[in-house]
Amino acid sequence: MARRIIIDTDPGIDDAMAIFFAIASPELDVVALTTVFGNAHTTVCTQNALRLLEIAGRTDVPVAEGAHAPLAMRFRGPADFVHGTNGQGDAPLAPPSTSAVADGAVELIIREVMAAPGEITLVPLGPLTNVARALRAEPRLAANLAGIVLMGGNAFCGGNATPAAEANIVNDPEAADVVFGAACPVVMAGLDVTERIVMTGAQLDRIAAVDNPRAQHLAAILPYYRRFALDRQGLDGIFVHDSTTISYLLAPEHFTSVSHPVRVDTGSGVGRGKTWASTRRAEHGDDPWAGRPPVTILTGVDADAVVRLELGRLGVPG
Ligand code: RIB
Ligand code: CA
Repeated sequence: MARRIIIDTDPGIDDAMAIFFAIASPELDVVALTTVFGNAHTTVCTQNALRLLEIAGRTDVPVAEGAHAPLAMRFRGPADFVHGTNGQGDAPLAPPSTSAVADGAVELIIREVMAAPGEITLVPLGPLTNVARALRAEPRLAANLAGIVLMGGNAFCGGNATPAAEANIVNDPEAADVVFGAACPVVMAGLDVTERIVMTGAQLDRIAAVDNPRAQHLAAILPYYRRFALDRQGLDGIFVHDSTTISYLLAPEHFTSVSHPVRVDTGSGVGRGKTWASTRRAEHGDDPWAGRPPVTILTGVDADAVVRLELGRLGVPG
């Protein structure tokens, strides 16, 4: 039976890749998309989610709009310099002909999970506001989830949004600290692993040669993301951030991991948003990680294998 997932997303160029990757994978059943601010404002992300489903021919998948702002601060603002002002590389996009469902993201997540205990995995690809709100609103939610496989954080490396922190986490550190404390299996696909997975310029060019609407949409939006990667990171290609969650769900054997409790820096200093894994016991004094469940932190990957897997699902011949 296909594994049932809800993707919580801020589309986003790499979010678009991950959504198409998931939809093209028969091992996964995409129950819904829920949206959040991040790469763009939430209303833009919702429009993009609807449009991506139209392009994929999957308007049967409901989209529920989520939070417009983090739990305890103002939204830092869209990452238009990475994803374009429309979140889709400034490629011209027709408005969707479908609409979001009446339920909000939190309501949809709670309803679907509680109706199918143990079946649904949440796959957050943006700030963790919706997921934290859902965990708080329904205390039994964690026990009824199959798990959470999220893109975000940096346990053993520097950040990408600040020297300390990764973009999804720094956009709502308080929410992330709630989610890393959830009493269900949590897998963190953070920069420790996603920055090891590069899809090269030559590989991205092969997507453009695929004659289907999904590949053609990616070909239209990827140049903006590639320009950012070249200018800011000196990379001929892109880090495959959000799709790493999908690769892990499909082929966990390609990954290595460590298991430690994780806390998020929610202070106001330069470390705000940093994900701290507790790799040793506190020798004295209070232990801020005490009582926190272990998180599976992905640290190693067969990058060639997962890039091949994703390209194959996107229709690029092997
Ligand atoms: O740090 C990478 C994350 O930030 C990805 O989810 C990407 O879409 C951006 O939001
Ligand atoms: Ca994202």
